[in-house]
Amino acid sequence: MLQNRKILMLAGDGIGPEVMNEVKKVIAWMQSNKGIEFDIQEGLVGGASYDQQGTPLTNQTMEDALSSDAVLFGSVGGPKWDNVKREHRPEAGLLRLRKEMDLYANLRPASVFDALVQASTLKEEIISGLDLMIVRELTAGVYFGTPRGIEELEDGTKRAFDTETYTETEIVRVARVAFELSKKRSNRLHSVEKANVMESGVFWRDVVNQLHQTDYPEVELQHMYADNCAMQLVRNPKQFDVIVTSNLFGDILSDCAAMLTGSLGMLPSASLGDVNDSGQRKALYEPVHGSAPDIAGKQMANPIAMIMSYAMMLRYSFDLDAEATLVEQSVKNALSCGFRTADIMQENATEISTADMGVAIIEEISRLNQN
Ligand code: IPM
Ligand code: MN
Repeated sequence: MLQNRKILMLAGDGIGPEVMNEVKKVIAWMQSNKGIEFDIQEGLVGGASYDQQGTPLTNQTMEDALSSDAVLFGSVGGPKWDNVKREHRPEAGLLRLRKEMDLYANLRPASVFDALVQASTLKEEIISGLDLMIVRELTAGVYFGTPRGIEELEDGTKRAFDTETYTETEIVRVARVAFELSKKRSNRLHSVEKANVMESGVFWRDVVNQLHQTDYPEVELQHMYADNCAMQLVRNPKQFDVIVTSNLFGDILSDCAAMLTGSLGMLPSASLGDVNDSGQRKALYEPVHGSAPDIAGKQMANPIAMIMSYAMMLRYSFDLDAEATLVEQSVKNALSCGFRTADIMQENATEISTADMGVAIIEEISRLNQN
């Protein structure tokens, strides 16, 4: 059915390969039972690539990513590479993929599963039923702004600097994605910056306002400072539906939002570029969690964020909504059956390994598929 659709799988470092293994099980199930077959290629990224090839991302792998219909990405980084030069650090591989694929819109949904309300550090009434979406700008801002560096001053001490920069085009395209998503959801959008202290924040607010007036007057738009947003996310997260923000604020706020759901191990993400002439957009799907080197190789990692990222791929890259829903519902069911990985373990639940969580989810997929 989708034989000619090419997926590049980059498992990366730490728990990346372990959680990716569980996605492979779901892919195999989809192939045998639904005839959903992809042309799958695997590659190295991050520290794993650096160790073998001296760079966190080879030009060949970059080309493979550019010519694929979607990239499935695990995680990169770890203390092993702490002393490697910045341009060779594992994270540089991921940043290059985002930049060269021009994946400017990073969708990070945070929704709370009923079975896991107790796993959150927040009170049940604050988070039950929570379902919000952070749209994080991903290819500009301080992550890529120049000049940047560390320089020596005349008095022999040093000075470090980074640059937060946003062009009108960069703000408009990510804001457009957020407005469009808001229209499909509850028609409400929060735009987040620090217009009280940053020029780029003032500009961000102006550009979003302008786009609102010209193209999306029907969406209810509110502006919020990033520090207030962090506070509101833990005080009353259900006031939010869609949040659009810059690269750095999005990085921070999405970790915060993820934790509302009980564990970082639950949160998927989709990074999307522009739609091309054939209606397809470049895309990379990755869990929000990192490589968790402390638990890597111990079969303790939660594969749910990775499996949910795969479900987002089915939905956003291949229009396979029914199959995406099947996967998401199976995750919910496996949790309702009481299966938990260590990060979300609760009293009276059954703690299982990474691989067994994969098996439990596959069993639910099969069961739901028969009904
Ligand atoms: C994320 C990560 C990355 C980021 C790192 C690994 C470069 O924290 O995807 O949120 O800061 O963007
Ligand atoms: Mn992050």
